[in-house]
Formats: sequence, C-alpha cells, structure tokens
Amino acid sequence: MPDYIAWSPEQAVAVIAAEADKEGALMPILHALARTFGWIPDEAVPLIAGILNLSRADVHGVLTFYHDFRRSPPPRHVVKLCRAEACQARGGDALAAHAERTLGQKIDAHAHSAGGHENVSLEPVYCLGLCASGPNALVDGRPHARLTADRFDALMAETVR
Ligand code: FES
Repeated sequence: MPDYIAWSPEQAVAVIAAEADKEGALMPILHALARTFGWIPDEAVPLIAGILNLSRADVHGVLTFYHDFRRSPPPRHVVKLCRAEACQARGGDALAAHAERTLGQKIDAHAHSAGGHENVSLEPVYCLGLCASGPNALVDGRPHARLTADRFDALMAETVR
C-alpha cells in the first residue's frame, strides 16, 4: 500500500493550489488529493470549490460520480481475489466465499471502506497473468498463488492483525 500522509486541510490546500492552474483542474486536483492522502474527505469539497471558484455541488457531484475516489480512510490492507475465469475454474468461487465469511465483508470493487474487518478491504481483480496456478490473489500488492482456504487463513493470520 502506498505511503499516504494523514489528512490535513492545510496540506490539502497546498495540493489543490499546486494543481489549480491546470486546464480542467478539478480532476487533476482530485487525483492529487487521492495520491497524497489515499482518500478525499467531504471536508475537501469546500476547499476545492473555494480555490476553483466552483459551487460545492459541482465539486461534490464530480467527486461522487467517480467511484474510484475513496471517500473514507483507506484500510491498512487490501486483499484482491482474482475473479476471472481460470481462477474460478480452479476453486476461486469457493475461495471467494471463504474469504467473505472470514473477513466479514463482500468482495466489492467500490466498497472503499471496511465491512466486517476494519483493517482490510476485500476487492476483486480480473486476472493477474498467473492463470495456471490459480486461484490467485494480491495481498497488499504481492501475488499469492494456489490459494486454498487454509492457505488463505494462514496468509491473513500473518498479514492482517
Ligand atoms: S484468471 Fe486468475 S490469474 Fe488469470
């Protein structure tokens, strides 16, 4: 997971100001805030609106339209299970059901907040290029192959605390 800095309105203003002169600055600002903090709180909306001289509704509308902008603090760990066909054929569906039960949340590309386990986001990924060794997953960006329920549990025990 990237190293984000803690949300700070003062730091956010600096990030916004650095992008404000760009053509169509709103999207570059939103991306810059997401890269810097890992999420964009509602508190950012009036800051952006004020600097760009836009309405809060306009900024809020764009922020909420793009689901990839996380609007709550990121979890410490991201578990991405491969949900593509080759991994499904190798037991990926059973593994996914097990992971959902274990972590207490549904696999969701746009959850952007923890469900049952506050430190983990359980998300899908569609093929890691390791199809022959599925089912596969990325845990905090590192690939793990040939996962079983037991191997998944062991991985979670050593990764997610
Ligand atoms: S289908 Fe899962 S790695 Fe290719």
